[in-house]
Amino acid sequence: MTIVRFAPAKRLRGSVTPPADKSISHRAAILGAMAAEPVRVRNYLHAEDTTSTLNAIRALGALVTVQGDGVIIRGTGLRNTTELEGPLDVGNAGTLMRLLPGWLAGQEGRSYTLDGDESIRRRPVDRIAEPLTRMGARIDATEGRLPPFTVHGAHLRSIAYDLPVASAQVKSCVLLAGLMADGATTVLEPAPSRDHTERMLAAAGVTVHRNGPYLTVTNVDELTLDDVTVPGDPSSAAFMIAAGVLVGGSRIQVLGSGTNWTRTGFHRILERMGGIVVGELEEAPGDEVLAHEPIGDLEVAHGPLVGTVIDAEEVPLAIDELPLVALLGCFAEGETVVGGAQELRLKESDRIATVVHGLNALGGDLEATEDGFVVRGTGGLRGGTISSHGDHRLAMLGAIAGLASDEGVEVVGMEAADVSYPTFTEDLGSLLGR
Ligand code: S3P
Repeated sequence: MTIVRFAPAKRLRGSVTPPADKSISHRAAILGAMAAEPVRVRNYLHAEDTTSTLNAIRALGALVTVQGDGVIIRGTGLRNTTELEGPLDVGNAGTLMRLLPGWLAGQEGRSYTLDGDESIRRRPVDRIAEPLTRMGARIDATEGRLPPFTVHGAHLRSIAYDLPVASAQVKSCVLLAGLMADGATTVLEPAPSRDHTERMLAAAGVTVHRNGPYLTVTNVDELTLDDVTVPGDPSSAAFMIAAGVLVGGSRIQVLGSGTNWTRTGFHRILERMGGIVVGELEEAPGDEVLAHEPIGDLEVAHGPLVGTVIDAEEVPLAIDELPLVALLGCFAEGETVVGGAQELRLKESDRIATVVHGLNALGGDLEATEDGFVVRGTGGLRGGTISSHGDHRLAMLGAIAGLASDEGVEVVGMEAADVSYPTFTEDLGSLLGR
């Protein structure tokens, strides 16, 4: 366990390029493995989660060559995965665990067991088992809902699936299975969630239609994916943005970050709180399914904040940044209220409990609710010690809290950041002039 102390910072200056997008890297690896022709992925994220994905697709028969900051994947084709003796290890990667079964479900006559670390074994898979079962696959999960679990592949039939939660992982799983099902598969989203899968499928020549909340994919014989370039991860960039806003005298540039509108809910919340973030973000394209990912630069400066209310519709578009919203709320004037975010309880840690408990231990005034939290802004944080609970976003939250605090913060379990942002401490150091 690594313990790192983050001292109060004077100011942040300079520019940072966030690491490659984790969500898009997972998808590029999986779709690359499903494709018939080799796919070059530029700027692939080399971090623990996305390395688990490369290992999984290798086990399934894909050839993966690491080339510079990218990878070249020679896939197995849609229905041709290798049979395995033992389980596939997804490590800590929830996205891998929920997306890959969409592909595996279509491998007729073959079965695959998925397992992972202690945290992954607490994360439910019934949300994907339900639609995949309706499509004709069989899923055997521990206690009916947890890993380890086995996907028994089958000839799939298409379904129309009403998503019970606005989850991009579940949506993506159904869409991937839909590629191999008879006919057209439709998902109904209760609210928009990140749309990287549908964009990449469109880029791979799949017919993908959106009609308001309905998203339909038509089955294919083959996927033909051109080169993929992965933008910087807006969720990783958000930590640097929060640091720039919170630490007095800061002015930073964030370069090459994804600006996909389904990932920039945090920016819109921050803007409402009075944060100074300048840059061009993508506008929602309506029903058009775009086949590319937008990328852009942002300028961030320190400034005072006011509290705000985040409602359920906004939650999926800022889901991984809500811990940072809690931190910003501690420094804001007035109350910051997050509701409709019960999904936070099912992340790498129970992020309602760990964030509220963690920030309160640093001098914050937060209260957990069933589906979110209320933060009473006190204008600052004293500092102290916070545990990452093995959750990468908690570790990085503690670090940023430390820079903005009066006395500094010691993060216990800082190594968790390697899951999504292995160069986090280094990048922060460069903005601090170290
Ligand atoms: C992800 C979707 C989100 C997010 C996770 C990554 C993805 O989960 O929290 O970090 O890549 O699809 P849900 O879709 O389950 O909300």
